[in-house]
Formats: sequence, C-alpha cells, structure tokens
Amino acid sequence: MQVVSVKKALDGSIAPDSKVEVRGWVRTRRDSKAGISFVNVTDGSTFDPIQVVAPNTLPNYEKEVLHLTAGSSVVCRGTLVKSQGKGQSFEVQAEEVKVLGFVDDPDTYPIQPKQHTLEFLREVAHLRPRTNTFGAITRVRHVAAQAVHRFFHEEGFFWVNTPIITASDAEGAGQMFRVSTLDAMNPPRTDAGKIDWGKDFFGKEAYLTVSGQLNVEAYCLALSKVYTFGPTFRAENSNTTRHLAEFWMIEPEIAFADLNEDANLAERFLKYVFKAVLAECGPDMKFFEERQQKGVIERMEKFINSSFERIDYTDAIEILKKAKKKFDYAPEWGNDLQTEHERYLTEEHVGRPVVVMNYPEKIKAFYMRLNEDGRTVAAMDVLAPGIGEIIGGSQREERLDMLDKRMVQFGLKPEHYQWYRDLRRYGTVPHAGFGLGFERLIVYMCGLQNIRDAIPYPRVPGSAQF
Ligand code: 4AD
Ligand code: MG
Repeated sequence: MQVVSVKKALDGSIAPDSKVEVRGWVRTRRDSKAGISFVNVTDGSTFDPIQVVAPNTLPNYEKEVLHLTAGSSVVCRGTLVKSQGKGQSFEVQAEEVKVLGFVDDPDTYPIQPKQHTLEFLREVAHLRPRTNTFGAITRVRHVAAQAVHRFFHEEGFFWVNTPIITASDAEGAGQMFRVSTLDAMNPPRTDAGKIDWGKDFFGKEAYLTVSGQLNVEAYCLALSKVYTFGPTFRAENSNTTRHLAEFWMIEPEIAFADLNEDANLAERFLKYVFKAVLAECGPDMKFFEERQQKGVIERMEKFINSSFERIDYTDAIEILKKAKKKFDYAPEWGNDLQTEHERYLTEEHVGRPVVVMNYPEKIKAFYMRLNEDGRTVAAMDVLAPGIGEIIGGSQREERLDMLDKRMVQFGLKPEHYQWYRDLRRYGTVPHAGFGLGFERLIVYMCGLQNIRDAIPYPRVPGSAQF
C-alpha cells in the first residue's frame, strides 16, 4: 500500500492495479441504484479530483459513505485501476473509506458544489482555497514564484532579503504604514481612553516598507546582480481592482547597466515566467481559459513570441494626441499616462508589449537618473496588452550631486539618506532595476478581474478579518 497524491494517482506514473491510499476532501458524491457510490476526492495537488468507487459491501457504507457531503475529509484505500468512465484516467476501487471529518450542517457549508461568485468567496477567504478557482490560482502562484527564483538563479543573480521595517520612504510617495512599539496586553491610553500608539520604534520613526529597492541597491553595488522578492505595503486608500495595501514585489537590480539593459532583462524575465506557467500548469490554465477569460493562453503565447516595442514617452504623447480614440483624460506632456492611454499604446497602436521610456522628471521618483535633456529621467514602464503597466523601473541616479539636487527638489532631506548617499560616494557605478507587482502578474496570467483574488488574504481598506 503506497500513499499517493491525487496528482500522482492520475498521471499514469503508478502501475495499474497497485494498492494505493489517497487522502483528501470530498467534492461530490453520486450513488447508483446498483449500490455503488462514486465519490470525487481532491487533495489540491492537481486540478482534477480522483473518483473513488465505494461499493455497498464496505462495512461503513450505510452509516458513513452515504452521508459524505462536499468538504468531508476521507482516507481511501483500494486498487488503482484504469477508469472506464469518460473524462478520467484512473480511479480507486475502494476497499476502505475512512471518514476523518464530516461537514457540520452541510446545507450551510459555504462551498457548495456549484459556481460561486468571486465577491462571495472573498468573504470566506479561509474556505475559498477549496474551490477549483482558488486551487488553480494557488498552484499558478506557486509555479510562478518558483520560476522567478529559477530565472534569477540561472542568470547569476542573488536573492537578497530586504527589511520589512524601514525608516525611509523608498518611493517618496508618503503612503506608508507606521510601526509602533507597545504592550499589546496593556497599551498606554490617552486621557480620552483611546490607545496611544506612541511615535517610535525604539526611539526612531519606523514604517512598513513600500519597496526594497534602496536596500537592494546597496547589495547590487557589491554583488552586481541581485533581486528582492517579498511583501511590500502601501497605505493608499484606493479601492480599486488593481491595488492592494499589502502585495509582493519582485525587484531586480543590475550594476554596470543602463535603461536598455534593464528593459532587456524585464523582457527575458516575463517571458521566462510565462513559459514556465504554461508548461507546468496546463490543466489550471485550461480552466482559466474556459471559466475566467477566453484567450488568456493565447495572450501569453503571443507575449512570449513577440519582441517588446520601445517608445519614448515624448513620442507616446504624440501618438496618443494623434489617436482617433476619445480618452477620458486628454494626454498631455508632463502628466503620467492613464491606464486608458497605456492600453491604447499596447493594444491598439502596436498590438504587443510596449516599454515606454524617459518620462518627465517631475512625475517620477527622486532616485531616477536625470537625462541629458534635463527634463526627463531614465525611467521605464512595461505595458502589457489587456492590463497596462505591469512593471516600473529606471536607471538610478549614480551621481551624488545630482541625487542631492533631486532629493531637495522632492522635499526629502539628504541627511536622512546618508547611507544611500554613501553608495554614490564610494565607488559609484551606473545601475538600473525594476519592480514587478507579483499579484498584477497573477491577475494577468489567470485572466482575473480583481487583484483581491490573486493573493490568499487580500489587504484592502476595511479588510483584515482573516
Ligand atoms: O511603480 P512602483 O511604485 O515602483 C517601485 O516601487 C520601484 N521601487 C520599483 C523598482 O524600480 N525597483 O511599483 C512597482 C510595481 C508596479 O509596476 C506594480 O506592478 C506594483 O509594483 N504595484 C502594486 N501592486 C499591487 N498593489 C499596489 N498598491 C501596487 N503598487 C505598485
Ligand atoms: Mg509605477
């Protein structure tokens, strides 16, 4: 008797007629008149459940098997046989079905075997992993994360774990969560009885990081090719389908490199991850294609097979101004591109991914390198058909005097960034990097409409019951 996952039981690697044990949760149960029950069991290892054929000769057939409902947990032992039924390769002819846990009150169990709306499932975030959809999203997320690490490892990058608690606002955007120290059992109170959150983290202001970039730059200027991949936090009070207050970001950083090399890296990277997901998540991707968004697979294949178009921001504005399309916001040099502009450029103007480069310096972060023209910075956004901006990056300002000027211009105090300035004082080199919101990538690959479905427990204004 060998214990096997449902994936292994179905994939043909176990010899037919072997004795196996599969463990999992019941999806559905159907009873035939001939006194046989067909119980579909899933353990999350793969998209499809395995069919367990339970005859009424089992000692607990009447008392237990006939009471199995969706969500019950079982351990099934029997013979793995080639299935006669359509749609499945193997099934288990059960000799034993042990029930570990029934579902209390099956009528009110939230995950009924029918299609639920994603809005409803967000309210049961602890149970939604049991659905087809969230099982598939979870597996794709895992495979994509593995591919991210594999890509960088193969390219000679080192993974650097940057801190979550920081003192600096890495984006200069001012949308941070503050960290305080306090005795949670006995918090200090103001006179009005409210919790006094204090001001500091052991005597210093501290926040949750918005980006690991500044920290990873320090490692880049020693190990040459590095990346971070971890949680980041933005206290933006925006209730949109594209923003989370807590999301995972991938940020590579390369030394002795300019913006073009940065764009090359972004292109290789995205294609690598897409290829891995298509190759390793076949059944899950087929499900997204059928149930989430028709065309997601083709969209990824096209992405892999096309070279990215590069357009200067200034040219992009001209293209948008000449476009016949009516935009909600008129394109104007000096303003950031709106999603409608981005989608026009990538979907209608060129029909493949676009890298927009060299944005006006006023609308981009302080650390971006000022171009010769004095009015643009070496910034890039990668735009993908069907979504718009997916990656943001830049060549960094490696000249100390220029960096100081830009900090002052952005209202930042250079003395708060001494360590970051040191990197320009001691052996500075041109370097560049980018950031990819991991959940935006998941949304894109799975054809989701809302970023809240791309992370197990979404953190958005008003959430946090889980
Ligand atoms: O454009 P952003 O703010 O750039 C940075 O943080 C740089 N430090 C990156 C770098 O150059 N190392 O964010 C980068 C990416 C965006 O393109 C988007 O994919 C994602 O992070 N992102 C979010 N994803 C989910 N929810 C949010 N609130 C996000 N804000 C940004
Ligand atoms: Mg951006």
